[in-house]
Amino acid sequence: MTTALKGVVFDLDGVITDTAHYHYLAWKKTAESIGIEFDEAFNENLKGVSRIDSLLLILKKDGRENDFTQEQIEALAADKNEFYVSLLKEITPADVLPGIKELIVALKKQNLKCAIASVSKNARTVLSALEMEQEFDYIVDAAKITKSKPDPEIFVEACRGLNLDTSEVVGIEDAQAGIEAINAAGIVSVGVGSGLRDADMTVKNTGLLDLRILEILHSK
Ligand code: BG6
Ligand code: MG
Repeated sequence: MTTALKGVVFDLDGVITDTAHYHYLAWKKTAESIGIEFDEAFNENLKGVSRIDSLLLILKKDGRENDFTQEQIEALAADKNEFYVSLLKEITPADVLPGIKELIVALKKQNLKCAIASVSKNARTVLSALEMEQEFDYIVDAAKITKSKPDPEIFVEACRGLNLDTSEVVGIEDAQAGIEAINAAGIVSVGVGSGLRDADMTVKNTGLLDLRILEILHSK
């Protein structure tokens, strides 16, 4: 017997709003400040990856991972974050991606629960700028987890907070690391965007997300 869909766990950056572009701009500035070229294609590898792990991937790309002291690495990460946070000031409630508000309204109408699973330390700032903090029954951010995506911990913790079994929810992600985390948690996965592997279903953009489609996918 299949269990009914009782909740949805959303990634934040790139699913609820397009902060992924701001992360890109901030990493580009920091990488180029130390002579490392940075483009959108490489940025794809950083989606869903924690701040420090992202920086280590950038340094590794040019074989520079041993060129910096721990202190310098922390200063570079702080530099990236400072610029990123300054870009966040541009965010308003109008920046919620298409279809997301409608989906949340539909979930609530059917008494389904919703949570955020974001490895970002800025998750609450972003949700507050979007005026969406109150929309979620549970929010898991970097403060609540010890392992970053693709580890399943963050999605398992989101289900625990919603008081639901992992078999009762679907997870929505725009990052490969996120899809892997959802799958590893034993949750039905929905990818948003292109180039994602192994998602149970992929949609091109958030405007195509729909409760009925999620229910059908979950029941399979
Ligand atoms: C994820 C983003 O949601 O959060 C990553 O996809 C980002 O790109 C990570 O590195 C950590 O974010 P922050 O805000 O803590 O630097
Ligand atoms: Mg994301």
